[in-house]
Amino acid sequence: MIKMVLIGTGNVANHLYKAFETSKEASFIQVFGRNKKALKSFSKKTATSDSLTKIKEADVYIIAISDDAITSFTEKLPFKNRLVVHTSGTVAMNVLSDKNRKGVFYPLQTFTKNRVVDFSNIPLCIESENASDLKLLQRIGASISEKVEEINSEERKKVHVSAVIVNNFVNHLYFIGSDLLEKNNLSFDLLKPLIFETALKMESHQPKDAQTGPAKRNDLKTIENHLNQLEESPYKDLYIQLTKSIIDTHGEKL
Ligand SMILES: NC(=O)c1ccc[n+]([C@@H]2O[C@H](COP(=O)([O-])OP(=O)(O)OC[C@H]3O[C@@H](n4cnc5c(N)ncnc54)[C@H](OP(=O)(O)O)[C@@H]3O)[C@@H](O)[C@H]2O)c1
Repeated sequence: MIKMVLIGTGNVANHLYKAFETSKEASFIQVFGRNKKALKSFSKKTATSDSLTKIKEADVYIIAISDDAITSFTEKLPFKNRLVVHTSGTVAMNVLSDKNRKGVFYPLQTFTKNRVVDFSNIPLCIESENASDLKLLQRIGASISEKVEEINSEERKKVHVSAVIVNNFVNHLYFIGSDLLEKNNLSFDLLKPLIFETALKMESHQPKDAQTGPAKRNDLKTIENHLNQLEESPYKDLYIQLTKSIIDTHGEKL
């Protein structure tokens, strides 16, 4: 069994922990976190610690902490020449401390507390400095997912921009839709079948081919009507920008 230590107790740490409970190749022998309360949820099944001096010897250390804390945290690790990987979509591998062998184990999914995710179809983007560590990460990844991909730091940054657009931005648009409905005492539930169909269409269509709506059709009167409704709204500029982007993409001019 490949021995791993999990560092962090947030969203990704919790989901990774659950995913590896059924892995036949790798398991967490310890969870390290600075948050004693959050550590408690791991302590029934695994050793835990909030002290760096008590960190166990393992084959790989998976650092699932906030992006901005990764570099300085790895400088503080009290050992050398072990494999230390982070889980970020945007942090370059080379910012990890030079004391240890570096790698990345980035699960390309949105992880939220109390949501169950199926790891078997989550792309795991892996990277490492040397071939044997890459092989190890490949083995670890393949034990929980069918989609393990070698992706370098430059490529991963590009993937992450697109991931933010299709997930974080789209989710924010859901919020705007719900906010506008709520202000008019209408239920967000009305939009849910539309949201699901928009996402499901991506199984069979390219995003460009799936586009519908007034901006695609160049229905200027409808667009004008929407802009009038949004006259006082903080979302008016966003509506204009997105409408322009759709019209530019589909070859018409506003
Ligand atoms: N959430 C996602 O959808 C997602 C998806 C893919 C990859 N990732 C990546 O996974 C990593 C973790 O993200 P997350 O969503 O799990 O974050 P999170 O839920 O906000 O948890 C962050 C964790 O980092 C710890 N932490 C923050 N600063 C620290 C420091 N200076 N020293 C030690 N621990 C520190 C926090 O401890 P406290 O509780 O004490 O603050 C907490 O355990 C990030 O690199 C993120 O980019 C996230």
